Amino acid sequence: MSLVDTYKLNNGVEIPILGFGTWQSANGDVAYQSVRWALAAGYRHIDTAAIYGNEESVGRAIKDSGIARDELFITTKLWNDSHSYEKALLALDTSLEKLGLSYVDLYLIHWPNPVAIQKQGKDAWIHANAEAWRAMEEAYKAGKTRAIGVSNFQIEHLEALAKTQHVAPMVNQNFLNPSDSQDELVAYNKAHGILNEAYSPLGTGKLVNLPQVINLSKKYNKSVPQILIRWSLDKGFLPLPKSTHEKYIQSNADVFDFALTSSEINSLDELTGVGGFHTEASSADF
Ligand SMILES: NC(=O)c1ccc[n+]([C@@H]2O[C@H](COP(=O)([O-])OP(=O)(O)OC[C@H]3O[C@@H](n4cnc5c(N)ncnc54)[C@H](OP(=O)(O)O)[C@@H]3O)[C@@H](O)[C@H]2O)c1
Repeated sequence: MSLVDTYKLNNGVEIPILGFGTWQSANGDVAYQSVRWALAAGYRHIDTAAIYGNEESVGRAIKDSGIARDELFITTKLWNDSHSYEKALLALDTSLEKLGLSYVDLYLIHWPNPVAIQKQGKDAWIHANAEAWRAMEEAYKAGKTRAIGVSNFQIEHLEALAKTQHVAPMVNQNFLNPSDSQDELVAYNKAHGILNEAYSPLGTGKLVNLPQVINLSKKYNKSVPQILIRWSLDKGFLPLPKSTHEKYIQSNADVFDFALTSSEINSLDELTGVGGFHTEASSADF
């Protein structure tokens, strides 16, 4: 395994097995420089979102890297202000313009139940997601994105979407780390051919010094973050570690010369709750 190895999505598109996160990487020098470092370190998969506000810097870093577009895998996401057919089409065009790209590789619905939709009624999210998805299917067919998917969708959201979708989601991106391994959701995604992407693989930094991982860290001569990223890969997830420091960016990708045993994976699975849990979609206040 290496940074350029891929999983195959349910439409045949290949996606590099480890991606680079950019949430909270400020637009401007920070996002630009961290994406440049990631690309120089060999990452070929970058995860951004309209709400991160850094698509322009991410796009500039991609362009300045000189790496051929077809060697890269770029994801962005539909924010919570655009859950309708017209707004979703417009949102993707706006993201493409900011990124300076003619297509992205993956476009995701960021959240299933934004607060603005909750205010329209208890079940308003069902229609809102169906309409946003209709636009995404159209964008997919038009070649503006090579794959489409969702994020933070629980089983009820996936099942509701399945009633109207013509194209099934290829990815579900979720909070996944030893603190919250969301086993039921992960199994559901897997059974339905939906790739499990793992966001916050380091618990947004809360897990990077976890004392319970020190023994494994010593055994493999790897940092705690490297062990956590390896756990994610060994679970069959696609981890998306984020950093703004060159040495962390490099070391987070240096995870292909060891593997955890099944009992070590199980011992990490038992760390439930140490770094918090995923946000329940229905209680999200954004
Ligand atoms: N779809 C969604 O709703 C959603 C939600 C959250 C995240 N995501 C995606 O997933 C990505 C990753 O999740 P995340 O941003 O929550 O955080 P994360 O990758 O779990 O952790 C990032 C934090 O850990 C620190 N860190 C990284 N590598 C380290 C190392 N080797 N040693 C010590 N500290 C290290 C970073 O510090 P520095 O930055 O200071 O280096 C940062 O504070 C996001 O950037 C985003 O692309 C998606």
